[in-house]
Amino acid sequence: MPRLLLIPLEDAVVFPGMEVTLPVDPGDETQVLLVPRHESDYATVGVVAEVGERMRLPGRIHAVQLSALHRGIAGAAQSDPQGRLWVDVEERPDEIPPPSKTRELESEYRATVEEILELRGDDGRVSAFVRSITEPGALADTSGYAPDLNYEQKVELLQTVDVVERLTLALELQRGRLAELQIRKRIREDVESGAQKQQREYLLRRQMDSIRKELGEDDASVAEEYRTKIAEAEMPDAVREQAERELSRLERMGDQSGESSMIRTYLDWLIAVPWSKRSEERLDPVHAREVLDADHAGLEDVKERITEYLAVRKLRAERGVPDDRRSGVILTLIGPPGTGKTSIGESIARATGREFVRMSLGGVRDEAEIRGHRRTYIGALPGRLVRALRDAGTMNPVIMLDEVDKVGADWRGDPSSALLEVLDPAQNHSFRDHYLDVELDLSHVLFIATANVAETIPGPLLDRMEVIRFDGYTSEEKVAIARGYLWPRQVERNGLRPEEVEVSDDVLRMVITEYTREAGVRQLERELGTVLRKTATEIASEAAAPPVVVDLDRARSALGRQKFFQESAVRTAVPGVSTALAVTGTGGDVLFIEATSMPGAQELLLTGQLGDVMKESARIALSYVRSHAPELGVDPSVFEGKEFHLHVPAGAIPKDGPSAGIAMTTAIASLLTGRPVKHTVGMTGEVTLQGRVLPIGGLKQKVLAAHAAGLTDVILPERNRGDLDEVPDDVREAMSFHPVMSIDEVLKLALEPKPVQAVA
Ligand SMILES: Nc1ncnc2c1ncn2[C@@H]1O[C@H](COP(=O)(O)OP(=O)(O)OP(=O)(O)O)[C@@H](O)[C@H]1O
Ligand SMILES: [Mg+2]
Repeated sequence: MPRLLLIPLEDAVVFPGMEVTLPVDPGDETQVLLVPRHESDYATVGVVAEVGERMRLPGRIHAVQLSALHRGIAGAAQSDPQGRLWVDVEERPDEIPPPSKTRELESEYRATVEEILELRGDDGRVSAFVRSITEPGALADTSGYAPDLNYEQKVELLQTVDVVERLTLALELQRGRLAELQIRKRIREDVESGAQKQQREYLLRRQMDSIRKELGEDDASVAEEYRTKIAEAEMPDAVREQAERELSRLERMGDQSGESSMIRTYLDWLIAVPWSKRSEERLDPVHAREVLDADHAGLEDVKERITEYLAVRKLRAERGVPDDRRSGVILTLIGPPGTGKTSIGESIARATGREFVRMSLGGVRDEAEIRGHRRTYIGALPGRLVRALRDAGTMNPVIMLDEVDKVGADWRGDPSSALLEVLDPAQNHSFRDHYLDVELDLSHVLFIATANVAETIPGPLLDRMEVIRFDGYTSEEKVAIARGYLWPRQVERNGLRPEEVEVSDDVLRMVITEYTREAGVRQLERELGTVLRKTATEIASEAAAPPVVVDLDRARSALGRQKFFQESAVRTAVPGVSTALAVTGTGGDVLFIEATSMPGAQELLLTGQLGDVMKESARIALSYVRSHAPELGVDPSVFEGKEFHLHVPAGAIPKDGPSAGIAMTTAIASLLTGRPVKHTVGMTGEVTLQGRVLPIGGLKQKVLAAHAAGLTDVILPERNRGDLDEVPDDVREAMSFHPVMSIDEVLKLALEPKPVQAVA
């Protein structure tokens, strides 16, 4: 690394390729390092320059010609007795050719410079010079000649050793110059044509005024209109002040600028919030109960909870107890699709005399969706809450947060944290939307959340919720709902009069069991709609005369092929198939677990989209049967050289959880003993390696599914016995329940006593 004499350049920058004459004395040196200096700050990069002709200027002043060669990075420095600085220099000539492609950058740069030169009235010499430069690094360095780049910009350019970066920077600097020159040119032209221009503008303004008058918004009226609207909106003081501030900005700005339309949008939103509007709340529990009953059958829990809530509010109001912010409830309705969660929300609004707005959170992954974007964003908008309030038109609506279990989080922030704030009664009186940027009082909103499953609701959110479970309906409840609500509604939708069509409960029951399999009633309503549409068509085309009786035949022919069968008898006729009760996102369901064995060494094969926990249950099941083979009457030698395959149809639906443990064990035991599983039995329970049966969740939903599937016996863990209280009476009476502690009991209850075929 050479050590060179450092020559500081006061507030000046020399680039490689330049020739300069400086009043300095380089002694006998042939090369020196020229480093820009401002006050006592040295640049980190200088240029290595070759010393040329030395001169004597008048008055004993030395001068020397220097030609700059290439960049050099200044390293360690030392001064000598004469006070001169010597530095180690790491020489950095540009790489030729450059390490990466620069063609596009180069041509962009040349084009920009050409344009600048044209604006500056170059006589062709400078552009010829620029054209003569072929290396990209050197090309970038020609910016160093530009008279209107300042010292800092030039130092930055010098310090950019990498050629591509340097050319990019140079291009940016030149573009800046170009923009400035263009503006200057325009101003110059404007001034020149000023007189004409003023006249033109005057004419245009006159025209605009008359257009406005025509539209009824004469000049000052825009601002005036906002002023009135702001006054009428009865905003809280802080909000009004903010609105007025924005309004005076708008007035100052005039209507032409682009920002004025942004301010107007903002003001429109501020005004759209129903700051002072509230529905007169009806705190009458008796009336509320009537409304709720009129809209929905059953659903005792929610109805009771809402009535209680109103009763408490009413007492507090009558006794003058102020609203306690901490007492706010966030009712959360959790259950399978079509069980009436959303629609009871609407009913609650009706029962309490509030407005209703539904806000679907499914797939919301961005906090800004809830809270809005800051106004500095282009196209910023308020978040969904503000929009919900606008739609409601009051500050105390029922806002239904639909599908809270489907909010996601990603790099754009976690919407659940915004929701937390919204739902927390201690905080939500001062909610701040990013766009509006003023405080909103949400404490009078009645929030009701809904979800299909509790598991995916973010923990902290769930913690603040009062959960009411919608477990689905029994067939009899469905009949009642169909009779009381769905049928009349569909009759009306299809343009029929109630007395024109008749249906019996048996027909409704048939539609429920043969054409639907669901926890809720959505599909049922669709099927009834189909029946009635066909009937309406017949009546309209005079193929049938009212009153029409929809009997079994008519219903079947309208609905086509039967869609669901009670398959358990067929499926479990062979050994190796058991019936498990499960809960999926769509409610309870019965799953058939199939086991088979064949020669092989794989040991255990699992199919049917099983989750990890379910796979572990399968292993435990196999190990249990293996280790207890003699007690089960299974010859241990059957395991030798065999592999087992467990399959859980429907293969397209992912399943997980430990609760199929006893059913898996039963399937394997059935296969190996040749004793089929009784076709009336469904079972649920986790199993341990010792054969103990552990409790599971969702018992009510499972029992309802078992009942709907035509099973009459349910084997369940002893520790779930208490959950049977939740099962509706008619179902409880129609079925037998067998709480068990161990797998032995399960097998005793579930397997037919006699083998039907040779052991696998
Ligand atoms: N108990 C009931 N009484 C009367 N109608 C009901 C009852 N339960 C559900 N319904 C009707 O069933 C239909 C579906 O209900 P809704 O849309 O509220 O389901 P949901 O629980 O919100 O389902 P999802 O989870 O799919 O959103 C609605 O038309 C509703 O009126
Ligand atoms: Mg819904």
